[in-house]
Amino acid sequence: MLQKNNLGKAYHDATKHSYLSVQMNPNYVDASTQPSTFKVYPKFYRRVQLNVNNPVHSFIWLTSAITLEKVYKDVPYKLRVNPSAGALYPTEVYVQVRGVHGMVDGVYHLEVENNCLTLIYELIDDGLESYIIPTKCISGFIFLISCVYYRSSWKYQDRSLRYCFLDSGHHLGAIAASAYLHSKDIQLIFDFDKLALNTDLGFENKEFITACAISGKAQEKQTRRLRLKVPFVCATDYFEANQFIETSYKATAVQQSYQQQLKQPQLKFDRDKFYQTIFNRRSCRRFRKKCISQEEYLYIWQQLEQPLPTENYEEIEIYSVVHRVEGMSPGLYKGKHLLKAGDFSEQTGYLCINQAIARDCAVTLFFVSDYKSYQTAMQIAGFIGQRVYLGSNYMAIQCSAIGAYYDDETQRFLETTKDVLYAMAIGN
Ligand SMILES: Cc1cc2nc3c(=O)[nH]c(=O)nc-3n(C[C@H](O)[C@H](O)[C@H](O)COP(=O)(O)O)c2cc1C
Repeated sequence: MLQKNNLGKAYHDATKHSYLSVQMNPNYVDASTQPSTFKVYPKFYRRVQLNVNNPVHSFIWLTSAITLEKVYKDVPYKLRVNPSAGALYPTEVYVQVRGVHGMVDGVYHLEVENNCLTLIYELIDDGLESYIIPTKCISGFIFLISCVYYRSSWKYQDRSLRYCFLDSGHHLGAIAASAYLHSKDIQLIFDFDKLALNTDLGFENKEFITACAISGKAQEKQTRRLRLKVPFVCATDYFEANQFIETSYKATAVQQSYQQQLKQPQLKFDRDKFYQTIFNRRSCRRFRKKCISQEEYLYIWQQLEQPLPTENYEEIEIYSVVHRVEGMSPGLYKGKHLLKAGDFSEQTGYLCINQAIARDCAVTLFFVSDYKSYQTAMQIAGFIGQRVYLGSNYMAIQCSAIGAYYDDETQRFLETTKDVLYAMAIGN
């Protein structure tokens, strides 16, 4: 029975893993039935081939670039700058470009597989602003992240609701990283008229907008809503509806987040090294139980403590279970404060559904929250997760996201009443 007071919490509760639920429903799928992971608009749309020597193109390209191709159990995978639960990549990127030299003002779909932008809508006096920040007109870029949920629900069923939002947060993190590298600020926006945009962008029930990132100059000016509807184009080769996902997306899309003042992070990365980090970011598949230094650990913490560039806010609290950090007592910490001393590595391995990465890493992190807006909270958790990846990899420390854990048992281990939104492992 769903609670009335916070529907987000009810949907989170409905997708919990427990020892029993995982035994009874282990998510085995026939890999040959995987829906396609790349959206391609019909060939009659105009396309711009991305040239990485052009800084505007390179800014957009690096938000979603394919960085490694590999074959696993006869299935080819194209891994990208953004991680994704099960490498299923439900997220798509659209970008409105206005007043940018050499580009037609319009809304483009980023066609990741072919390195191009597809112009799906030309602007006149209309634009995405009217759905997002109604009294402003942006010269520059408005990125939209959408989720093609079936790519993830195909395997993870109802729990894919979480992975869609977390993946979306990571993708926002990838946009932030590319923006930093191209000397641009961004602002993340979570509270806007997503439902109207889904209709006007022709997504039907198969794709939904989760967030927006703006980079550009805002002018006081009214823009109209899109004067024409974009035709529906299916982002997968086949589709099976999931009523739970559709209902819970819609209910959580209208939840208002907490508000805060916009503040930009102050990042100080060496640009060449940071570019290499973005390009070579990977999830660690096996840790070797090696220690990391306290300095490295604190450096990663510093990245997490940087302000989030958004006015729509949800507080994420981070618990860290330290197993192997030189000069630190192993134990459970809330932030940097030791709550329980002890070696809990076997326990975190078990809690994360017996995944060795959560046992053999140097630190297992758990993100918890008492949110107002579930969609925002999950995406902020993913955004912070991307910082953990990049901050760690920048220091030559390995990292992996962990979306699979026994929810209630983890909550009891942490001794918190807040929902456990995400976990991560760092180490060597
Ligand atoms: C939301 C989310 C949840 C994930 N959960 C797990 C997990 O439970 N266990 C794991 O080994 N990897 C997990 N991963 C890592 C993905 O498997 C990985 O990102 C994907 O295979 C692509 O590889 P890459 O990150 O090296 O590009 C997760 C990633 C994301 C973004």
